[in-house]
Amino acid sequence: MKLKNKPRGTVDIFPPRSSIYQKIQQISSYVLKKNNYQLVIFPTYEFTELFTSSLGSTSDVVNKEMFTFFDRKGRSLTLRPEGTASTARLICQNKLVNSNNPLKLYYWGSMFRYERPQKGRYREFYQLGVELINASGIIADFEILRIAKDLLETFAIKDFTFQLNYLGSEKTRERYKKELKSFFSNKTDELCSDCQKRYQTNILRILDCSYCFGNFAFPSYQKSWDNEDNGYIEKLNQILDSDNFPYTYNYKLVRGLDYYTGLVFEVKLMDKNAILGGGRYDELIGKIGDKSLAAAGFAIGIDRLVNYLLDNFINNSTSIDIFFLALTEQAFPLIFTLQKKLKKYNYVSDYNLTIKKIKNPFKVLDYYLPRLTIIIGEEELKSDKILIKDCQKKKDFFVDSKKLIKWIDQYLTKSLD
Ligand code: HAM
Repeated sequence: MKLKNKPRGTVDIFPPRSSIYQKIQQISSYVLKKNNYQLVIFPTYEFTELFTSSLGSTSDVVNKEMFTFFDRKGRSLTLRPEGTASTARLICQNKLVNSNNPLKLYYWGSMFRYERPQKGRYREFYQLGVELINASGIIADFEILRIAKDLLETFAIKDFTFQLNYLGSEKTRERYKKELKSFFSNKTDELCSDCQKRYQTNILRILDCSYCFGNFAFPSYQKSWDNEDNGYIEKLNQILDSDNFPYTYNYKLVRGLDYYTGLVFEVKLMDKNAILGGGRYDELIGKIGDKSLAAAGFAIGIDRLVNYLLDNFINNSTSIDIFFLALTEQAFPLIFTLQKKLKKYNYVSDYNLTIKKIKNPFKVLDYYLPRLTIIIGEEELKSDKILIKDCQKKKDFFVDSKKLIKWIDQYLTKSLD
């Protein structure tokens, strides 16, 4: 075993990619805070039973993908494969709901699933999850969709459509399962061996099978909707249309986790991998705690989001705003003063830590790629006129050291316009 190799399916995240994760985290916290959502942090591992009883014992996540281990006292623990079950547990254990008011929460963290690794599918991956607890009804469903759309738009993603489906009440779900049973009754031989088992244990899970899904013209969920379900869909569509919300129905979307009850949704960008998924789960919290609470939420796959942003429009290079190039040690006190003054601005700056007797001191700039370089040598200290180079436009300026900060801010702000 080579010590420098990491386990398969895990990712090292380092600059410049890591700065995109950081920005996404900052931007999403800002958007969610503005909408009155608050952060929760729960353990990386939980008792295995939390996941087996809430995600469904026949789901792929529970059956094939959990990282489960025993602690020194023989208790079965599992690295969290997702965050909804943990959020539900956290709410119940800490008795966070004491009124009729909704609780708006979000989380950020790595999740673990033993999947076959490929681009966009990892064994440790990051999710941003948003959960709206103690809230039922169509406006709550719309709120969750709206927040998901807001986040995608804030990340500058434009071409997306939400795929929706409505699983309806227990009765509707049973009707659809019956429909599927009769559809497959004379085709079980054509199913893969896993789906032959799923036919007996949880027939809905056949829709998650990458092999069988493409091989059959599955019955549409729409056929199982009753008057009440159709009334809900009609109202939801009206709200979505009046908001110009980008959506379409996918009547075969059931999602891979067992806890969903009503509305479910996913967004796919370009490739077949979903960038986010979620829905309503009104029965989950009642299974974990003493009282049942209606809830809905979604999670965004951050690694997939970053892949998409990098593939499509983010320039994958580290560059900084200002580099102070000290040509003499006497320049450092002035650099420290200037950096202190820059604190109240939002610019990234850096400087050389040693004065190297190199032939071309400007070589250092190929590494930092600054927008502006402030050069401070003996000449500049004597004359108090500082040389500024716009490295991208290849222009030089001489500015009084006292006016320097104001000049930099005006110049950088103007060059962004
Ligand atoms: P999920 O659809 O299993 O839902 O995961 C949400 C998102 O996490 C996916 O759309 C995908 O972008 C990302 N994801 C899932 N597995 C991987 C993987 N192996 N590698 C990289 N990214 C992955 C949930 O987890 C639910 N808890 C969402 C939810 C919240 N439902 C209600 N509230």
